Amino acid sequence: MSKQIGILTAGGDSPGLNAAIRGVGKSAQGYFDMQLIGFRDGFRGLVDNRSFRLDGNMLSGILTVGGTILGTSRDKPHRMSVGGKIMDMTDVIIENYKSNHLDALVCLGGGGTQKNALRLMEKGLNIITLPKTIDNDVAETDTSFGFDTALGIATEAIDRLHSTAHSHHRIIVVEIMGHRAGWLALGAGLAGGADVILTPEIPYDINSVATAINNRVRKGKSFSIVAVAEGALPIAEAAELKVLQDIKLNPVDKKAKKQAKIDIEKFEKTHANHIYSLSNQLEELTGLESRVTILGHIQRGGTPSAADRILATRLGTACSEMVNSGHFGIMVASKNEQAVAVPLDQVAGNKKLIPTDHSWISAARQVGTNLGD
Ligand code: F6P
Repeated sequence: MSKQIGILTAGGDSPGLNAAIRGVGKSAQGYFDMQLIGFRDGFRGLVDNRSFRLDGNMLSGILTVGGTILGTSRDKPHRMSVGGKIMDMTDVIIENYKSNHLDALVCLGGGGTQKNALRLMEKGLNIITLPKTIDNDVAETDTSFGFDTALGIATEAIDRLHSTAHSHHRIIVVEIMGHRAGWLALGAGLAGGADVILTPEIPYDINSVATAINNRVRKGKSFSIVAVAEGALPIAEAAELKVLQDIKLNPVDKKAKKQAKIDIEKFEKTHANHIYSLSNQLEELTGLESRVTILGHIQRGGTPSAADRILATRLGTACSEMVNSGHFGIMVASKNEQAVAVPLDQVAGNKKLIPTDHSWISAARQVGTNLGD
């Protein structure tokens, strides 16, 4: 009997998800004589058993389509809201895995999905994951599908913002996605020639940013583009968050961990509109007019770039090969253009942040970009 692969997409959507589903499916069906069963809306669909057979017709014509034909959600198997209560639905997932006669479950997702997948692997399911995120912060892979497309979109936005900032002699502060990792802001800022790039990895001093903008004015450049990752923080606030994160990582007891989680959530809510206060402070310190542009979900939408289609197809087809050979408990990563299997427990719970000595950082500094420090 041919093998049955379950597949779901979880977490925020990303361009390239459909290309990956197609890669897994076409290879599974056409090459290895396996069957593909899709589950809708991430782990929620696995709990509700909303499954359907993904046949060849459904895999046709989706390579270039953004989003995910399966739908997605941020639901976690072990903490799912059901009838207004938070419940552990892991056992239901295991039941549905069995009732669908799955030989493997393929989970496409970012950091959160990798953790959820690891939990299911530890319960005995045959799990394989693929890395997708526009944030590029999944550990143990050179890159994730979605990142290249979002990088192109954010870069184009910065290009466009240049002419309006220039015409009005303004500062434009542009918010780019990325709560914990600043790859997208750094990459788009570098490619788009932003004058200042602020990332979560390098806490910023507002005076350093203002000085950089004032220096530009002295040289006759009366506009500036400030590319800011969602999670970029001033030095004092970054230190505050670090204290909370350390308590969460090494709590004295369960109560302290719970409290740290609540405090981090509160901190993040308060920080949500930080871009506006950043812009106001820059107006005050430079005397220039400043405007805010939030790119938001535009960065996740639309057709995937050629690079993301290729990456998703490479990883998707390699995933089928691994299912066929019975290789489970792994993420199919991209390293040096090769698809390699990385044990899930080396991926889950880790984040790929920008190393301070990364070549993008030194290149940005050498072309005169202020990084807030
Ligand atoms: O999936 C990653 C991401 O796009 C982050 O860059 C962003 O901070 C977050 O998702 C937004 O999440 P949501 O779409 O749930 O608002």
